[in-house]
Amino acid sequence: MRPVIIAANWKMNTTPADAGELAATIAARTEEPEVVRVICPPYVCLAAVRDALAGTNVAVGAQNVHHEAAGAYTGEISAAALAGLATWVILGHSERRRDALESDELIGKKLARAVSSGLRPILCVGEMLAEREAGRAVEVVAAQLHGALAGKDIETLLSAGFVIAYEPVWAIGTGRTASAADAAAMAEAIRATLSADLRWGAAAEQVPVLYGGSVTSANIGEFLAEHSIDGGLVGGASLKPDEMAGMVARAAITARARAEATGKSA
Ligand code: 13P
Repeated sequence: MRPVIIAANWKMNTTPADAGELAATIAARTEEPEVVRVICPPYVCLAAVRDALAGTNVAVGAQNVHHEAAGAYTGEISAAALAGLATWVILGHSERRRDALESDELIGKKLARAVSSGLRPILCVGEMLAEREAGRAVEVVAAQLHGALAGKDIETLLSAGFVIAYEPVWAIGTGRTASAADAAAMAEAIRATLSADLRWGAAAEQVPVLYGGSVTSANIGEFLAEHSIDGGLVGGASLKPDEMAGMVARAAITARARAEATGKSA
C-alpha cells in the first residue's frame, strides 16, 4: 500500500522570523496520523521549522541540494549541510529547470547525492503547455524520467522512499489544474515508464506519485479520488493553515480508505 503524502513547497516565501510559527500552526491543524506531511521551507528557514516541528510527525524538506559533496560552489548547499535540518528534498522542480537551467542529467546526479546522504527525494517532472497541446506530454515526462533515473539502482531508490511529483508546468501558480483524469493517466504513464522502459517491473507500483499545480483544499479531492495519485505537492495553498487543514483532512479520508481496502483483501 502506497502512503498518502501532502508536501508543502513554500518556495521563496517565509523568513526565519515567521516560518516557525507558520509551521507550528500547520502541524497543529493537520494532525492526521494516516497522512505523511512534509514542509519544505527556504534553506535559511529550515532550522526554525525543524525546531517548531519537534515533537510532531511533520517532516522537514529542502527545496534543492547540490550534486557534489562539498567544494568551491559559491551560494550552493551540500547534502551534508542539510543533516539534522531536513530529511526530504525536492529535486528538479520546474522553477529550477527554468531559472537555474537544471538538466535531467544534473537532476540525476542530485538524486544520487540525496539518496546516498539519506535524504528522501521528491523528483519533479512535468510538461509545458505547448508540449501538452502538441500531444507530447507523456513523451516529455518519460524523457525526464530516463534522464534522471537511467542506471540508478532501483532497490536503493525504493529504500530511500523515492517519490515522484507530476507537476504540469502550465498548472503551477496559474489557478488552472490538470484534469484529475489527465493527471491520473500521467501517473499511470510514469509507472509504465519505470516498469517497462527503465526495467523496474512490479517495483514501479511502490513509487508514490503526487500531483502538483494549483492544488487547493477545494480541488484535492478530485485528484485523491484517483487510485494512481498518492497526494499533492502544494505551493501557494501550502502557506495557508486553513488550506493545509482542508487538504490533509481530505487526504486522511483516502489514506483510511486505502488501509481498509488493504485490510479487507489481506
Ligand atoms: P502551486 O500550488 O502554487 O501551483 O505550486 C505548485 C508547485 O510548484 C509545488 O511544487
